[in-house]
Amino acid sequence: LDNGVARTPPMGWNTWNTFGCNINETLIRQTADAIVGNGLRDLGYRYVVVDDCWFDPNRDAQGNLRAHPQRFPSGMKALGDYLHSRGLLFGIYQAPLDQTCAQYFDAFPGSTGSLGHEYQDARQFAAWGVDYLKYDWCSPTGSIDDQVARFGIMRDALAATGRPIVYSINPNSIHAKTGPQRNWNDVANLWRTTEDITNAWNTGQTNGYPMGIQNIVDVNVPLAGYAAPGGFNDPDMLEVGNGGMTDTEMRSHFALWAMMAAPLMMGNDLRSADAATLRILKNRNLVAIDQDSLGRQAVQVSHDGTRRVLAKRLADGDVAVALFNQGSATTTISTTAAAIGKTGTSFTLRDAWTDATSTTTGAISASVPAHGTVVYRVSGGGTTDPPAPTTFRLRSESA
Ligand code: DGJ
Repeated sequence: LDNGVARTPPMGWNTWNTFGCNINETLIRQTADAIVGNGLRDLGYRYVVVDDCWFDPNRDAQGNLRAHPQRFPSGMKALGDYLHSRGLLFGIYQAPLDQTCAQYFDAFPGSTGSLGHEYQDARQFAAWGVDYLKYDWCSPTGSIDDQVARFGIMRDALAATGRPIVYSINPNSIHAKTGPQRNWNDVANLWRTTEDITNAWNTGQTNGYPMGIQNIVDVNVPLAGYAAPGGFNDPDMLEVGNGGMTDTEMRSHFALWAMMAAPLMMGNDLRSADAATLRILKNRNLVAIDQDSLGRQAVQVSHDGTRRVLAKRLADGDVAVALFNQGSATTTISTTAAAIGKTGTSFTLRDAWTDATSTTTGAISASVPAHGTVVYRVSGGGTTDPPAPTTFRLRSESA
């Protein structure tokens, strides 16, 4: 969406993966302090997004949304002011329906969705200083055309406020599991491409709930052609630091999200993040690959059984290459500079995890542990555009 924001994938933190509806203003402030204190803000993690369940279950007499009186007694304007005072940005959640998702599933009372209140709510968000809206379709009913229309109303309502607000939609109704995909660039800055992520490597689901890291990669990789500055596929928020995966798997998760130009929305409790977690989240090489100004999503160069090679062209002519081992044993994964779009005879490889550099005349290869991902930034020579840019594909089409 050409609204001036999300020229690179937004980075930040969201309440949902760890806290669900169990949120309050103290948690948000403490997390904001941790983001600043851990050096994450200065690496680019700036959006703090308060997901479902922040609101009073009833609108006021004029139909205005209000903060939940016990959870957010200081109000949302004060929360936004606090985040801004820490150099952070403020994200909030709503739904294009009568009910938010938690209300729909009876986890939270009331019917305070934005349907019919779009312009009023957008003005309210702007007045509170909101910088990011997550807008979540959580209903078994509705066609893709209904979604385009409804999501479009809030796009226009946000634009009418005059405030730059990242618009993040979830069209992936958790009941319409086989719903069609489209290129949502005309509607939003970010669009979810899968069912909810869960804290596991592989749930066996490829289009159901919940999805593991491996399963999401399978769905999101073929959608590479949709990504561009201003609009990115959203394979959901990070599970780094939430247990449930090995260190190798969490590193793969982060590396693949960076390669896929995904929003990097942390989903762990940052107040107690351990050193291993922070090492992953603070990997400057991978953050730079994710945040590259060209806004490309990696395309798949080869997929040989359990060995996958992804390549992401970068603005300075470098190409990032990921050697991803889906299998359960260590294996050697190989490609070439030519296969990832490099021309010439002499290249430097910088390992994104170790920072070690090596030179090559074209061979690119590594021994990769089970579920591991080695990433090299390849520089030198010229750059062409193979791997052939993925043409826009619907999820129902094969990769
Ligand atoms: C479904 C979304 O996919 C989640 O990320 C989260 O926003 C929940 N709804 C909130 O109810």
